[in-house]
Amino acid sequence: MNVAVLGGTGRTGRLLVEELLRRGHQVTALVRDPDRAPEHARVVIGDSRDPQALAEALVGAEAVISTLGPARKQNQLHRQTVEQLVPAMRMAGVRRYIGISGAGVDADGDCKSRRDRVISAAMGLFARSMVADKTVELATWQDTELNWTLVRPPRLMDGPATGGVEHDAHVSTRSTGMRRTDLAIFLTDVLDQEIYVRQAPFAATR
Ligand SMILES: NC(=O)c1ccc[n+]([C@@H]2O[C@H](COP(=O)([O-])OP(=O)(O)OC[C@H]3O[C@@H](n4cnc5c(N)ncnc54)[C@H](OP(=O)(O)O)[C@@H]3O)[C@@H](O)[C@H]2O)c1
Repeated sequence: MNVAVLGGTGRTGRLLVEELLRRGHQVTALVRDPDRAPEHARVVIGDSRDPQALAEALVGAEAVISTLGPARKQNQLHRQTVEQLVPAMRMAGVRRYIGISGAGVDADGDCKSRRDRVISAAMGLFARSMVADKTVELATWQDTELNWTLVRPPRLMDGPATGGVEHDAHVSTRSTGMRRTDLAIFLTDVLDQEIYVRQAPFAATR
């Protein structure tokens, strides 16, 4: 599949691009800094909030995967990106989107453990703008007709892939951490297996 990747220079994004290429997908990476662009990908230079850059990145794409994460002073990165990305996807005829949200974000139908309800409440206080940004992002996708998935991992960690990922549409994971390597594999599984369409599953390294 031809996949447009947003955030391909990031810690999860680099691993995602490697995993997609390993499985035979073609990748277009939208990056801000050409010197840090991943190898073996078609590269488009630009910002994820720029409609023209998005349109260029979506030429020929069949799906979009985002591993975007805000740099400092980008409190509205996710909502500003989704506002531009949804019309760009409609224009390009791309229906599939997979992105990363966070376990601190609530969705209808959730069955969070007591531990996760406490963590979410703390994040609502200490990471208020990030949670607010990702909450608006989720609501925006829910309002579209597109086939979105927003994966909600807990704390991200580095380290080799374990291959063991627990995931569920609404029930908290037992683990409180996810390796970025496992997340990159899981995002690719979500694409390949067409699972969790129009859902925001929790996922963690087992
Ligand atoms: N850290 C955690 O414990 C945790 C827990 C749950 C969920 N998450 C979420 O997981 C996601 C991935 O995290 P990560 O640690 O892999 O992220 P990261 O290493 O910080 O990478 C962020 C990526 O986003 C890109 N980016 C930022 N602003 C951009 C813009 N305006 N236009 C285009 N690209 C832009 C960065 O590009 P540059 O290289 O140009 O800066 C980079 O490629 C984030 O959304 C994060 O909130 C994190």
